[in-house]
Amino acid sequence: MVQKYAFGSPFETEAVTAGPAAVEYTGQAVCGDIPVDISLENGFACSCQLSDTDIVYGLGEANRGINKRGYRYVSNCTDDPHHTEEKVSLYGAHNFVIISGKKHVGLFFDYPSNISFDIGYTRQDLLTVCCERADLYLYVITGESARDVARQFRRIIGKSYIAPRYAFGFGQSRWGYRTAEDIEGVVKGYRENEIPLDMVYMDIDYMQDYKDFTVNPERFPDFGEFVQKMKAEKIHLIPIIDAGVKIEQGYDIYEEGMEKGYFCKREDGSDFVAAVWPGWTHFPDVLNPEARAWFGGKYQILTDLGIDGFWNDMNEPAVFYSEEGIRALNQAIDDHVKAFSDAGGAKDLLNNASAVPYEARAILEKIQNNEEDYRRFYHKVDGKMIRHDLVHNLFGFNMTRAAGEALQKIAPEKKMLLFSRSSYIGMHRYGGIWTGDNQSWWSHILLNLKMMPSLNMCGFLYAGADLGGFGSDTTRDLLLRWLALGVFTPLMRNHTAIGTREQECYRFGQIEDFRHVIGVRYRLIPYLYSEYLKAVENDEMYFRPLGFDYPDDRRAVETEDQLMLGDEVMIAPVYTQNVSGRTVYLPEEMKFVKFMPDGSLHEEILSQGTHYVEVALNEVPLFIRKDRCIPVVDAAQNVDAIDMGTVRYVGYDGAVYEIVE
Ligand code: GLC
Repeated sequence: MVQKYAFGSPFETEAVTAGPAAVEYTGQAVCGDIPVDISLENGFACSCQLSDTDIVYGLGEANRGINKRGYRYVSNCTDDPHHTEEKVSLYGAHNFVIISGKKHVGLFFDYPSNISFDIGYTRQDLLTVCCERADLYLYVITGESARDVARQFRRIIGKSYIAPRYAFGFGQSRWGYRTAEDIEGVVKGYRENEIPLDMVYMDIDYMQDYKDFTVNPERFPDFGEFVQKMKAEKIHLIPIIDAGVKIEQGYDIYEEGMEKGYFCKREDGSDFVAAVWPGWTHFPDVLNPEARAWFGGKYQILTDLGIDGFWNDMNEPAVFYSEEGIRALNQAIDDHVKAFSDAGGAKDLLNNASAVPYEARAILEKIQNNEEDYRRFYHKVDGKMIRHDLVHNLFGFNMTRAAGEALQKIAPEKKMLLFSRSSYIGMHRYGGIWTGDNQSWWSHILLNLKMMPSLNMCGFLYAGADLGGFGSDTTRDLLLRWLALGVFTPLMRNHTAIGTREQECYRFGQIEDFRHVIGVRYRLIPYLYSEYLKAVENDEMYFRPLGFDYPDDRRAVETEDQLMLGDEVMIAPVYTQNVSGRTVYLPEEMKFVKFMPDGSLHEEILSQGTHYVEVALNEVPLFIRKDRCIPVVDAAQNVDAIDMGTVRYVGYDGAVYEIVE
């Protein structure tokens, strides 16, 4: 059952598309017999008692475990590339939790600004959700299981985006590919080494001076022709689009946006200016439907050239600094220099505290993504100006919605690839997400795994992480192990930052191992894409925590390094260095299947319980549930080349599987 409560004057985020009408909160306890306390004394606070064994699922793209208990999280879309354990905010804002124990209750706080979740952080037995203004909708969902609650939630937020089949192929990306030759070199590297590949991503350097919807004509002399040439090689080029529009006279998109008044404004009506990759930029006001349609329409410049996929970035929106920020920093540096020279220069440095540039340093640390900047600009919604910080978490959603709505119009029959860095629930109807700037760390393989089911609960099914790690240098073994998880994530993309070690799979020795591991992805695409489509259609999760399938098995409920995938599979990837296998818990008898480097399959029935399974770097393991089977085909060099004639069924004898396409 879903109940909807209205507090104050909520902003209509459009996260939810169906469900009951709102009832005014009158001070009565909500949630039936679930003890939920609401206080409106100081903004909004909602507290919920947790019993010792309750699990708290949810929060989509958030740090830490599948069970969110024991920490605090703040929904405040943030461009922060250091996903260390203490971080409370990442790029998305997914305010949905499920408390699951004797009873199962889902809570969705439809509030587009900063909102915090203390989940047993202050008191182990209490979940407290707070925000500054009591203007929101609270959805309370009760169900017979966590899985049932998640399904009901998915029904009210609308069907998830469906990615094209080719987007289940493998993609290579790197911030630093500059020219057509660079990209051709990557394609050649993959094709010559017979490592499957369907997509090459184009990061900011394809543009002319980082201007959205432009292509540098020197580096790509005939881009349309180049796109076709790549298509002939079965490669889809996927360009990045950033949120900020460069301020430059003569740049048509800037001039049009100015003329039509489609950029975010300051209170005095002037356009807000922020520094991002192109230098000074304006943000398109994607919350204003007219401006959104205008910005979305620009994607056609690239689709007309044959492009059929995009990734939207920097849409928290990231602000490197504002005019105020840089002025304050300059002032602090000037003050420091003056104080230093007033104090007699270097000779008296040690005796003069005022010469220490603490202030400049403090400003420098806060200059990026500064909260004050988010209070300096406005969106136009229904003819009213609304300050950005009050709807901050909706920017990425609406930028991607701009693209999604436009692509629907441009090519209604065609599925396009679209995913975003920043998001809010609701965006899942328009595109997927990638989890941003992770690091080449072993712990980030596990973080990747844990985020997947949480994202699925919130509707984001097409999702994945930068395989191999974005920041810092990867290692061969890390990349291979991460790819063996990526084999199962809908988005399977190797991406890395400029300045890091080259991370394309053919850069490492014993290339056959990469050929094999990525080949396994292609062997499984008919199954994976079919399970993905079923999950969309049935409002189910593609990845689930084990507790969703085995709620009465405490050991399963507490397992955080294995996932259920679709209706047939359990995965348990290896995520530690220098090991020859791992311990795995089987809640029931299953068939352990390993894709061996010679193309054969190792199949072994394992009983319910704990097992140590050996998994070499070049093997891909999975487990098939009792009395089920999955289709497996031969590996192919790209998705189009998959030959369904080679299909065979692996798993339990006599089991039947129906492929949905
Ligand atoms: C951001 C993105 C990253 C991209 C970089 C340059 O950091 O998260 O994926 O490579 O910007 O565009």
